[in-house]
Amino acid sequence: MNTQTTAIEVLGITKSYGDHVVLRGLDLTVPAGTVYALLGPNGAGKTTMIRILSTLIGADGGAARVAGFDVRTQPDGVRRSIGVTGQFSAIDELLTGRENLRLMADLAHLPAREAAARVDELLARFDLVDAADRRAATYSGGMKRRLDLAMTLVSRPRLIFLDEPTAGLDPRSRRDLWQIVRELLDEGVTIFLTTQYLEEADQLAHTVGLLDGGRLVAEGTPAELKAQAGGETLDDVFLALTGHGVTPESDDELEEIR
Ligand SMILES: Nc1ncnc2c1ncn2[C@@H]1O[C@H](COP(=O)(O)OP(=O)(O)OP(=O)(O)O)[C@@H](O)[C@H]1O
Ligand SMILES: [Mg+2]
Repeated sequence: MNTQTTAIEVLGITKSYGDHVVLRGLDLTVPAGTVYALLGPNGAGKTTMIRILSTLIGADGGAARVAGFDVRTQPDGVRRSIGVTGQFSAIDELLTGRENLRLMADLAHLPAREAAARVDELLARFDLVDAADRRAATYSGGMKRRLDLAMTLVSRPRLIFLDEPTAGLDPRSRRDLWQIVRELLDEGVTIFLTTQYLEEADQLAHTVGLLDGGRLVAEGTPAELKAQAGGETLDDVFLALTGHGVTPESDDELEEIR
C-alpha cells in the first residue's frame, strides 16, 4: 500500500461480543489528508471500529492497515503513527491542564525544552492559557474537550481518531472544534471521526459512511448521499436508506448550530 495516498484501509472487518454481532464485514478507505466521518446511532459500532483501528482491541476477521501498518501484526507501528481522542476523556482531573499536557509530552519522550514549548503552544492554540494552572476538574465541558484534543496532538500525529468529538457541546463550542479540525486538515493531518450529528459530517467530511446494523449502508460525499436519497439533509438520507432517523437533538437545536 502507498502510505502517501492511503491513510486507512479496511477490508471485511468483523467483530462480535458473544452472540451480539457488532460489525458484519466493513470495508472502507480513507485517503491521506482527508476527513472521514463514520455516522451512526447509539450502539452502531462506531467506538468499536475506532478501538480496532487504534489497536485497542482485535477484530474477529478481516484486515486493516493504518498509516501503512497492519493493525494485527504491526500494532506498534500503528500506535506510533496515530493520536486518539476517545469518546470519554483521557484527562486526569486532579492535574492541571498544563500538567496533563506535560504528561503526554513525557509519554511521547519529547526532550524537556521541546516539551515545554509544545505545551505552551497548545495551551495558546486551544485558548487554555488562563486556565492552564487550574485543576482540570474545574474546567467546563468545552474546555475539557479542547484539552483532551490538545493532549492527542502533543506528539504531532499525522492521523487522528476523534470519537464523537463534539458530543454534549453547545453550538459555539462545537463550531470552535470544527474550526480546529479544519486547521488540522490544512496542515495535512488525516482525520477519522465518528458522530451522531449529521450537520457535523456535512460540515467537515470529505467522505461520510453510514453505519447501521453492522454494515456501511451508504458511503459518499455529503452531496452524493443527498443526491442518492433525493433529500436535502443527511437526516433525509439516513431515513431513506435505513428506514429510521439518527438525529440526537431537535431540529431547532440543529438550526441553531447552522
Ligand atoms: N466490551 C464489550 N462487551 C460487550 N458488548 C460490547 C462491548 N463494547 C461494546 N459492546 C456492544 O457493541 C455495540 C456497539 O458498541 P459501540 O460502543 O461501538 O457503539 P457506538 O456506535 O460507539 O455507540 P455510541 O454512539 O453510544 O457511542 C453495542 O451494542 C455495545 O453494547
Ligand atoms: Mg461510541
